[in-house]
Amino acid sequence: MTNRPDTRSRGLQPPEQEVGRGGGFQPRDGRPKAVLEVRRLTTRFRTDDGVVTAVDDVSFDVLAGETLGIVGESGCGKTVTSKSIMRLLPEHIASYGEHSEVRFDGVNILRADSRQMRRIRGDKIAMIFQEPMTSLNPVFTVGWQIDEALRYHTNLSRRERRERTIEMLRLVEIPNPERRIGQYPHQLSGGMRQRVMIAMALCCEPDVLIADEPTTALDVTIQAQILDLMSSLKEKLGTAIMLITHNLGVVAQVCDRVLVMYAGRVIEQGCVREIFHAPQHPYTQALLESIPKHGARRSRTHKLPTIRGIVPSLRHLPAGCRFNDRCTYCQQRCIDEEPELIERGLPRPVRCHFPLNQALASADHAKGER
Ligand SMILES: Nc1ncnc2c1ncn2[C@@H]1O[C@H](COP(=O)(O)OP(=O)(O)OP(=O)(O)O)[C@@H](O)[C@H]1O
Ligand code: SF4
Ligand SMILES: [Mg+2]
Repeated sequence: MTNRPDTRSRGLQPPEQEVGRGGGFQPRDGRPKAVLEVRRLTTRFRTDDGVVTAVDDVSFDVLAGETLGIVGESGCGKTVTSKSIMRLLPEHIASYGEHSEVRFDGVNILRADSRQMRRIRGDKIAMIFQEPMTSLNPVFTVGWQIDEALRYHTNLSRRERRERTIEMLRLVEIPNPERRIGQYPHQLSGGMRQRVMIAMALCCEPDVLIADEPTTALDVTIQAQILDLMSSLKEKLGTAIMLITHNLGVVAQVCDRVLVMYAGRVIEQGCVREIFHAPQHPYTQALLESIPKHGARRSRTHKLPTIRGIVPSLRHLPAGCRFNDRCTYCQQRCIDEEPELIERGLPRPVRCHFPLNQALASADHAKGER
């Protein structure tokens, strides 16, 4: 535990990176409506060692036309959150909190029946995963697999479906789509397979696309191409994107707003620009400081800052604030009392007894509201 240093220390902005350029989305002026509302989402797993709460009282909106980033270290609950929204978790071990709701088009997905889920999943809310090889079926051609989604969710004729499949492959910039529809996943590169997954996810023009680490398995050049493609498709089709990543550089590149998670909980959320400029939570600040800066010199004495310690196990969470054993600003109150997500009286919601950068964050917020 240390004494609290100057809390007005500024957030860091990755140099040579335009922050929060996720498109023409304007969250403040004429705030777009929420297409997906997650309220008090709690997801528990029954395990041999007892029940673990992987996602704990998480609430957020996905707004029409925006790209919302969800970030946090491995194990913080990003994938469980997205699979809960899609109801893709094994129901014999996963359960949801009594007050949890995932509202889409007037339906609480967590209580929806199988007929409602068939209408929503794939058609209204689609998902792409990190490794396309595990989501594409190796024994069917890519054309057949896109056609299957169209067969299931639309009334198009066979000829119309073929035309739509080719159009989708062209939209995701796959060259020579007439030939590619007859190829199998193993005949395509990793980047091409991820493009096919995006085509498959978007062929029914969903309102929300959930992308769980869609570029992590790709090299940096292809990663940049896929992110650009997702941004341009979002503009063309108006699909809201929920982008899950552990990479804040990716967030800076494509997202409008960001939700930071730690040990199953939301600890801060807001516009990307504001969060990068004036992070209020010490964990967010530490994450930003650990982004490699282009051109920064490293030596034995000037190492890239890292966050000390490790993420706590869900079975042995520390008393008080879940981040307290890793936090530079920890005080006695942080050990005695778990902070709530404070929403009132602060520029942005944050889960910390002693939020950082208050003057800067308030000034940013006021600027954004004008
Ligand atoms: N089927 C399961 N049974 C028990 N615990 C699970 C199960 N699936 C996930 N968990 C636990 O839930 C927590 C959150 O996992 P999740 O996969 O959402 O993390 P993540 O934030 O997506 O991490 P990563 O960045 O590594 O993908 C982890 O502690 C994980 O061990
Ligand atoms: S509440 Fe948690 S994050 Fe905030 S200062 Fe205390 S230990 Fe750090
Ligand atoms: Mg994950």
